[in-house]
Amino acid sequence: MSGSAFSPAGAEGAALSLADLERLARPRVSPPVWDFIEGGAGAERTLAANRSAFDGVRLRPRSLAGTGRPDPRVELLGRAWAAPFGIAPVAYHTLVHPDGELASVRAAGAAGLPVAVSTFAGRTFEELAAVATSPLWLQVYCFRDREVTRELIQRAEKAGFEALVLTADTPHLGRRLRDERNSFRLPEGVRPANLTGSGFESPADHGRAALDPDLDWSVVEWLRSVSTLPVLVKGIMTAEDASLARAAGADGLVVSNHGGRQLDGAPATLDVLAEVVQAAAGSCPVLIDGGFRRGTDVLAALALGADAVLLGRPVLHGLAAGGQAGVERVLDILRAELVDAMALTGTRSPAEAGPALIQRVDRVGEVRHPVVRDTRPVRSALPSPSGLLRKGDLHPSVSDPLLDSMNFLNEVADRYPQAISFAPGRPFEGFFETEHIFTAVQRYLDHLAERGAPPERIRNSLYQYGPAAGQIRELIADSIRADEGIDVAPESIVVTVGAQEAMLLVLRALFSQPDQVLLVSSPCYVGITGAASLLDISVAEVEESEAGFSCEEFEATLQRETAAGRRPTACYLIPDHSNPSGNTLSLQDRRRLLDIAERYQVVIIEDSPYRLVSRGTQPPTLKSLDQERRVIHIGSFAKTVFPGARVGFVVADQGVQDAEGETGLLAAELAKIKSMVTVNTPALSQAAVAGVLLASDGRLSKANVHTAAHYGEGLDTILRALERAFPADARSRLGVRWNKPSGGFFLAMNVGFVADNAALTRSAEDFGVLWTPMSYFYPRGNGRHALRLSFSYLAPREIEEGIARLARFIEAETGRHRAQAEGPASEKGAAG
Ligand code: FNR
Repeated sequence: MSGSAFSPAGAEGAALSLADLERLARPRVSPPVWDFIEGGAGAERTLAANRSAFDGVRLRPRSLAGTGRPDPRVELLGRAWAAPFGIAPVAYHTLVHPDGELASVRAAGAAGLPVAVSTFAGRTFEELAAVATSPLWLQVYCFRDREVTRELIQRAEKAGFEALVLTADTPHLGRRLRDERNSFRLPEGVRPANLTGSGFESPADHGRAALDPDLDWSVVEWLRSVSTLPVLVKGIMTAEDASLARAAGADGLVVSNHGGRQLDGAPATLDVLAEVVQAAAGSCPVLIDGGFRRGTDVLAALALGADAVLLGRPVLHGLAAGGQAGVERVLDILRAELVDAMALTGTRSPAEAGPALIQRVDRVGEVRHPVVRDTRPVRSALPSPSGLLRKGDLHPSVSDPLLDSMNFLNEVADRYPQAISFAPGRPFEGFFETEHIFTAVQRYLDHLAERGAPPERIRNSLYQYGPAAGQIRELIADSIRADEGIDVAPESIVVTVGAQEAMLLVLRALFSQPDQVLLVSSPCYVGITGAASLLDISVAEVEESEAGFSCEEFEATLQRETAAGRRPTACYLIPDHSNPSGNTLSLQDRRRLLDIAERYQVVIIEDSPYRLVSRGTQPPTLKSLDQERRVIHIGSFAKTVFPGARVGFVVADQGVQDAEGETGLLAAELAKIKSMVTVNTPALSQAAVAGVLLASDGRLSKANVHTAAHYGEGLDTILRALERAFPADARSRLGVRWNKPSGGFFLAMNVGFVADNAALTRSAEDFGVLWTPMSYFYPRGNGRHALRLSFSYLAPREIEEGIARLARFIEAETGRHRAQAEGPASEKGAAG
């Protein structure tokens, strides 16, 4: 047990490394307790592997990098951390110090780092919340009796805990031989403070009796149904499980083998990190624990793609050595070592750490085999009738929550058909007349006849396969010259099945190597990040400011990515009335953006579907300002003509040189790819669009004067309704603000609570109004306090009523959020 008799108080202050603290701790702890802490399962091969894995990576020093003062801070799950590490859930801190977790939580608060509190903590959640000044997470073991787990979660949530960490690697406890030999029992006075009842004499007995051994991935959904907190899944060691966790809706993954205490013979966590990071594909944070004892260990994990590291045993060592001060020392040493390693490797910030920092070396006596993906069925318990495929075996993109995000919204919309929906970014249906389609197609056929096409060519222009690049390129070239100032030859254009196919073709053509990265303005339209996910392309976010796309951030991201050893190749943005934020890039910033793109040699992918359906004059397109053929312009007729046609196009006038020195157009290469995707854009659809273009003398701006006026009125209506619903005092009281776009379909709104699926469901059910959580549009799950409001689809009266409902919802939800936040405070008072 603990005690200061073995070394003078404050001895921990002299410790220079975590190994020193471990040495100081050992004599202060009884041998069976020490074995319980230090031991692993079976022959402890995995326990040893966790440490020795670090011998297989070396950090590459960089000289004269000008990084004397690196900044180790990170932001994760919407909170700032002083460094990219936190405290792993470890049972019974009271085993080594009577203050137990109270001391660890205080130390973490002083260091500005989060703590995952074990289900088997030795101090109560409420006590811990009362002293916490940094985020607390609850580690969840799911018991056979779900009510017990539900109560624990609800207590922790009420006390102000900010996330759940589901430990998924423990259907039962691993065979820990040291504990069996010692017949390990919890010492007098050490108990799981948050659990009532008996049977807690030994952790193994308790685990055997109460943990649910039959859990499957549906438990994540269950957690979501009982709590609004984000759920991280701990114990992920394979790409397969990473994909399943993402599919189940996990908000974060923790690569962990439970400190070698579960499956003996499992690989070291560091050795599977890259596999998990790849499967996560940037969709959620990836944390890791197991054997981290030095700042260089932390940096190695960051370089291999981890967002943060968790510390297990070292925290108990610090606690045993010196209580709160001992834990503070552990955290201080690790932070100082990390900063030192960052400086010596030329790493300014954790985000800059990338594969270029790492050199792999062969460990003595170890042969390296490539990772072989597990092809066994994921759950052998599932009946497997013939024809049943396992999702875990399919491409990871099908399990990417991003590709699924809109499904939830659709489900809610179906369940509450009476709700007014600010969710869909669809055109207003009042403009569509069934008969117009026939007129438009006829007009195109007449046009062909007027130009002397013989009857069989006219017939075949509808009935036959057409050219892959499209048959209405001349008309499109004329119309974008007139409307958008884009002057290119028809050969530079490919007509696509919507803008979505254009994105897929462009990404497929530009990205061929794993070190390439696509930058996206963030929050970002899901079509591009989804296409990147399909093609295994890494994405880096250029965080928007409240005013929209930021050139500073663009340049900083380019530098960060380059420093991390990746190759930024292209940047995607919607410069006009962006989806989802509604922001528009100023002319000055358009010029700066092009200048930066030129300096860093990246392609700009300009997607601009809302310009011609917005009122007033628009700033020039990036493509029209582009002197260097650096911009690929994607266009869509979904808003200007009608979305059912599914016709878009891409302007790709860049030259492409082959090995013989012959130069062609990028558009021709895109057409080649298209011939293997959709062969050609449906002729009938092209004919209908062409008819509309012809009817307006090739100027879609002219054809859309009324449409633009209509959406402009929608915008005025929603802005007026918001002003009315949220006068200045209500705005500051509720923490509500919104932007004022000059056109388009969307605006962005910030609120004082977490605007997630649970909040959306309450909004639909209790207030009859729908919106889109902004977090859907952040590849890495930010934007939790924002929502997107789309006004394009609604009539003015619906907009007014919808905003009145939204105001009632926001009022109630903010109250709910405050009551939750204040819950623990009043208990703090009661506890004295
Ligand atoms: C643990 N660990 C753990 N994990 C968990 O999810 N819930 C728990 O209650 C515990 N309890 C626990 C007790 C003790 C004594 C140890 C050593 C570990 C596992 C822990 O969260 C983490 O995965 C490892 O400890 C990380 O490895 P290192 O840093 O200890 O090498």
